[in-house]
Amino acid sequence: MTDTTFTLTEQERTADLELDQLKQLVGLVPYDESTDVFPVTGWDAIVFVVGNATQTAHFYQSAFGMELIGYSGPETGNRDHKSFVLRSGSIRFVVKGGVDPDSPLHEHVRRHGDGVLDISLEVPDVDRCIQHARSVGATVLAEPEDLTDEHGTVRVATIATYGDTRHTLVQRGDYSGPYLPGYVERSSTYVKREGAPKRLFQALDHIVGNVELGRMDEWVTFYNKVMGFVNMAEFIGDDIATDYSALMSKVVANGNHRVKFPLNEPAVGKKRSQIDEYLDFYRGPGAQHLALATNDILRTVDELRKEGIEFLETPDSYYEDPSLRARIGEVRVPIEELQKRGILVDRDEDGYLLQIFTRPLQDRPTVFFELIERHGSLGFGKGNFKALFEAIEREQERRGNL
Ligand SMILES: [Fe+2]
Repeated sequence: MTDTTFTLTEQERTADLELDQLKQLVGLVPYDESTDVFPVTGWDAIVFVVGNATQTAHFYQSAFGMELIGYSGPETGNRDHKSFVLRSGSIRFVVKGGVDPDSPLHEHVRRHGDGVLDISLEVPDVDRCIQHARSVGATVLAEPEDLTDEHGTVRVATIATYGDTRHTLVQRGDYSGPYLPGYVERSSTYVKREGAPKRLFQALDHIVGNVELGRMDEWVTFYNKVMGFVNMAEFIGDDIATDYSALMSKVVANGNHRVKFPLNEPAVGKKRSQIDEYLDFYRGPGAQHLALATNDILRTVDELRKEGIEFLETPDSYYEDPSLRARIGEVRVPIEELQKRGILVDRDEDGYLLQIFTRPLQDRPTVFFELIERHGSLGFGKGNFKALFEAIEREQERRGNL
């Protein structure tokens, strides 16, 4: 059996992460890659398209502690757009913004606002993946091709997923550049405040996609059939319904569980759900939130707050509810410490997790981040859904969108 969980990716090694740490952080599981129709090693990069990449890249460095490692733009011969490559732990974020007034990136921003264009995945064999994807009817947006520069060769291809979102598949081999051919190394001019931790999160845990009403199962089937992903957990109807809104959610994951995609669709409620609000403002399906894995969520939240990041508020009643203590049992910190910061806690048969959600990070009420600290639980905070959605609805009401 090829046990891929006992191999760290290059990005994880570069980030000085260890296997046991990763198992805890993102819930890696052993699996047999040789029987996988579409083997995926892990995340390659999350590519954002934004209205002003220069400023967004600064924000992710100053507020989220990311490190600038690469760049492409007019100075490097790319006259269409600027692209900044940022890193925290094992994950790469790429932030792109149009420079040429005719850049197609502007159209993406006009339609969607700032958002995630591409959830790129690292794969050991691009051609094998594309051949399989095509045979089961996936849309291939870009055929496999080699990209080469002085750091080596990368083989890439792109398939379409929900909305205008895409998956670029990246076969890195022994490529040694900062990201892809054409990018140059670039380091931060931003100086971290004294005493700031080396990084605020170590890995990416999951990315949630919001899809059209009635189409969640289609997208689950897409990931099952095209990418060989397995179904992890399922939340339907009452699990995550409040008085005013409801949604349905199913989770798919790649074989080793590095890549996890919860998929949400709105369910009919008395008023518009947070998923409806997203679909309206994003003009269709797209990535809703990215969950960043940390091994010290208290410290991370404190540091983010110092930089002005705002989180959804959790009502005191959540912590004072006696059933909460019965439900969650012992966790590593007193509940009062969680309450002070608004951190949510959930437990299942495997363990528990701590989590908190930021407010939307751009002008439209669309994309946001989650911070997650796992202690054995492989779940997504099902027990918190109701408490969370009630908090989100209070915000929606303040914006007049409920
Ligand atoms: Fe999440």
